[in-house]
Amino acid sequence: MPREDLRHMDKACHLITMYTNPSAHIWKSAYKIDPSILTFHQTLPNYTSTPLHRLPQIATDLALGNVLIKDESHRFGLPAYKILGASWTIYRTVIRELGLPSTASLEEIKAAAGGKRFEYYTATEGNWGRALARMASMLGAKAHVYVLNAMLETTKSKIVHEGAEVVIVDGEYDDALKEAERISREKRGLFIADVAWEWYQEIPQWVVDGYSTMMVEIDQQTAELVGRRPDLVVCPVGAGSLAEAVVIHFKHVVPSSAVLTVEPVTAACLMTSLEAGKIASISTKDTSMCGLNCGTVSFTAWPSLRDGIDAHITVTDEEAKVAEETLKEMGILIGPCGAATLAGLTKACKEGKDEVYLNRDSVVVLIGTEAPRGAALDMA
Ligand SMILES: Cc1ncc(COP(=O)(O)O)c(C=O)c1O
Repeated sequence: MPREDLRHMDKACHLITMYTNPSAHIWKSAYKIDPSILTFHQTLPNYTSTPLHRLPQIATDLALGNVLIKDESHRFGLPAYKILGASWTIYRTVIRELGLPSTASLEEIKAAAGGKRFEYYTATEGNWGRALARMASMLGAKAHVYVLNAMLETTKSKIVHEGAEVVIVDGEYDDALKEAERISREKRGLFIADVAWEWYQEIPQWVVDGYSTMMVEIDQQTAELVGRRPDLVVCPVGAGSLAEAVVIHFKHVVPSSAVLTVEPVTAACLMTSLEAGKIASISTKDTSMCGLNCGTVSFTAWPSLRDGIDAHITVTDEEAKVAEETLKEMGILIGPCGAATLAGLTKACKEGKDEVYLNRDSVVVLIGTEAPRGAALDMA
């Protein structure tokens, strides 16, 4: 598979830090979205499409046709998109356990469970655990959420408020995952993670499937706003499950949309893996982009990311902060993980616009994955 690394000096001797994969332009995914996923999400209380905002000033500044941002700062009353994956995954595990058809409603599930209490175990940087806890309590189940000591007290208490038990773990995010998985086996509960390993694939794939509702909405909204598919979709990366959902959907037609992914300089597990040509775990450092602070790419996401990402770039906390402030001045409140996409696009435009197939007519969709952390904490 031919691959090219643009890590070299430009004429002004700045380090170019964008990884590109020219063969991704013609790579085609075989994935087809299951329409029952959107139907399921539509049955949950308060389902509504999240907005896709225009960013005309950014389009002008970057000399692009249209720049749009998918605003995931409110999704089912939670401050991030994660509930899309958590809800579909829990639904799938419960209907399988109870032997129900894949059209079963929440009420039918509760009735069939007949008082049986499912116990779910997971680890989180915040959003995922809270979303899982919300869905578990909706079905009368219990979530046990493993978090790092460094997590803000307010974030921990938001997870507890959803009815979950919060368990503190020393170490890094990968350690919290391992501990949650170990205890789930000991207690005979179900380990639900949004990251896969060789021995754990089905559940994380359901999480990715759950994110497809966002992709369907982007398709519809982009068509309504600009009359065509995006030329480039920009997605932040932690363990890579969301990016997998983006790649497998937007690369299922040829010519496809290009995909640019973005991660923090201090948690660049995807960049390290792309450069190594295989999954490579790293030790991460603290970042304001909390949700992206992951040390290992998800096993099931890796093949699609390796083959389907056109370009990948890292950004600093400062660059994400500038992007967050820029969006705020435009009245759009998106936290650092989501703002990282604007930081990445801005950098990519400076460092190699051709490499991400951009020109004056291009339509770009940024995925703004969460509310600013302060706002997120205030949310019910
Ligand atoms: C707000 C936010 N954005 C993006 C991501 C990255 O998602 P993934 O781990 O699927 O790459 C996360 C993950 O926790 C997140 O919380």
